[in-house]
Amino acid sequence: MKDQMIVSKQVGRTPRSTPPQDHLIVTIDGPAGTGKSSVGRMLALRLGLEFLDTGAMYRAATARAIDAGVSLEDEDAVAGLALEADFHFDWQTDPPTLLAGGKPYDARLRDDDVTRAVSGVSALAALREVLVRKQKLIGAQHPRLVSEGRDQGSVVFPDANIKFYLHASARVRAERRAAQLQETGRAVDIDALEQELDDRDRSDAGRAVGPLKKPEDAIVIDTSSLSFEEVVDKLEKVVRAQVTLDAPAGGE
Ligand code: DC
Repeated sequence: MKDQMIVSKQVGRTPRSTPPQDHLIVTIDGPAGTGKSSVGRMLALRLGLEFLDTGAMYRAATARAIDAGVSLEDEDAVAGLALEADFHFDWQTDPPTLLAGGKPYDARLRDDDVTRAVSGVSALAALREVLVRKQKLIGAQHPRLVSEGRDQGSVVFPDANIKFYLHASARVRAERRAAQLQETGRAVDIDALEQELDDRDRSDAGRAVGPLKKPEDAIVIDTSSLSFEEVVDKLEKVVRAQVTLDAPAGGE
């Protein structure tokens, strides 16, 4: 209901008869486990936009620091390694493959040591400065973009055409994560996962620089009782109501 109200207000600003937009940035922010990456990727595919997973950049910076053996509290060293890595994406793959120093880096990003350390590393101001600058540059070079993270609507793309904030209870998010892990044959403790997510939310929201925060003009979607398809449908509907797209649509 709430997002419907916001949508109709914004439709007034952007008449449907406008020509297809060559600049269209859609941001999706929210805590871990709300399905932002999968939703963002599918939304981009349906709308014919490119997709930027900024969490992958923080994970890559973390992996690089761990692998180089530098202290994860040494922000100049961590930021220096990220700068030197010159992160790029190969936009020909789906999802785009993250390259560091020209080499694919994806395989390492979801390892447990990286997942455990990334929230702390992503609080380092010097690192955020490097990655935010890079993300803005990517946005300038790929101006038809769905960008997903924690600070995309608030810091990186404050002028984004449409901002979403996905939310779900920690319990629901833990159950989703457990289902994913069970698929790969791993043992799971839902209570521990819920606690882990809760801790990560607190750390992501409490940091001084680029905290997880709902942008004031974001459309909030509680995904707790929605399926993946329902969430993507909802977002797609909002975007199509507000802008003119020239790319072929995956949906109706
Ligand atoms: O979305 P994810 O789980 O891959 O994100 C990994 C970590 O990176 C998470 O702890 C939050 C952080 N992050 C961030 O601080 N800012 C972003 N724009 C994206 C992710």
